[in-house]
Amino acid sequence: MRNQDIKQLYETFVLPTYRQLPVCLAKGKGGRVWDLEGKEYLDFFPGWGVSGLGHSHPAVVSAIKDQARKLIHVSNNFLNPKQARLAEAISEASFPARVFFGNSGAEANEGAIKFARRYGSATGRYEIITMENSFHGRTLATITATGQTKYQEGFAPLPEGFGYVPFNDLEALKKRIGPKTVAVMLELIQGEGGINVASPEYVREIRRICDEKDLLLIADEVQTGMGRTGKFFAYQHYGIEPDLMTLAKALGGGVPIGALVVNRRIKGEILTPGTHASTFGGNPLACAAALGVFKAIRKEKLLRNTEIMGAYLREKLEELKTKYSFIREIRGMGLMLGMDLSIPGAKIAEECLNAGLLINCTHETVLRIMPAMIVSKTFLNRGLFILDKVLANVRK
Ligand SMILES: Cc1ncc(COP(=O)(O)O)c(C=O)c1O
Repeated sequence: MRNQDIKQLYETFVLPTYRQLPVCLAKGKGGRVWDLEGKEYLDFFPGWGVSGLGHSHPAVVSAIKDQARKLIHVSNNFLNPKQARLAEAISEASFPARVFFGNSGAEANEGAIKFARRYGSATGRYEIITMENSFHGRTLATITATGQTKYQEGFAPLPEGFGYVPFNDLEALKKRIGPKTVAVMLELIQGEGGINVASPEYVREIRRICDEKDLLLIADEVQTGMGRTGKFFAYQHYGIEPDLMTLAKALGGGVPIGALVVNRRIKGEILTPGTHASTFGGNPLACAAALGVFKAIRKEKLLRNTEIMGAYLREKLEELKTKYSFIREIRGMGLMLGMDLSIPGAKIAEECLNAGLLINCTHETVLRIMPAMIVSKTFLNRGLFILDKVLANVRK
């Protein structure tokens, strides 16, 4: 099949909800992908953060193969050893916790919202405060949690019970908390919002306020989780623990899985049998893949690699900043970096694609750069060389 034939099928049969690039990726290995015509791309944004270990990592491939031969799916009404072991692995990497599994980031956040509402139901509290420029998913409740009106347009009436405050603004948050507030939900680094990093004082103070007022602190780690920032979870940079944490994207190494991680510090049973469910959630195949991800991160010391490569990449991006006056700022942590420009970034991402480098542009002016955790300096240098050339052309 040729690109053109595939495009034709899309136009006839697939709802056009995505702004698609005119490229069909047919094969991937590590940090590289190839299109149908065999053109190679260096992937500095693998699967929008899903392929955190790179494409088709051997640990994930063999875990999927082994499990597929035994049992792909089983209903959640039966015990599932892979699910139990994955919940244990998540808890060991974060805090003493119990986990609910779904299939995506939106579903994990939906679970967190439902958890918070039930938590507050005894005291008549239901309001969740989220941040401007946040992104929490595309279901009705999660677009409402998302503090960007562009995702909500045309979908009214939206569910009640959400309030928004500017990110990193403690006074605004304090003012917004009211008698109906039950939770504060945030990304420690806003991804879609433009790689905005929460300040340590801000996060620590939110934790203190949540403790004082019996509010749940929900960390959306869908994009920042599973090692992206150089620690398993971004909250670990801040010296606090959230009450609820949501995961998805890189958790399954490419297989759809999401998780709501509930800290054991929350007393009582909030979600009891029958109150929440997901048919596919945490099935043996997805959990086996995620266990493969944990195994590879530990065995290959990928957190350390992310820290070292992240620091190297940042240094190189800072060098580009001194070279090009239209680069305003380099932001982020580990291998989750953003280059904020004073000019629109979409065209630059497009030029990079043409030159064989995959990056993303978010929030109009921010180039989002999130290579896989397995990358080497040589690989990064190859991508940086292309980026430099594209930026030089822009300056011209
Ligand atoms: C922080 C964050 N939360 C939630 C989501 C939604 O995840 P999904 O697309 O898997 O539903 C995303 C997706 O980009 C995200 O970045």
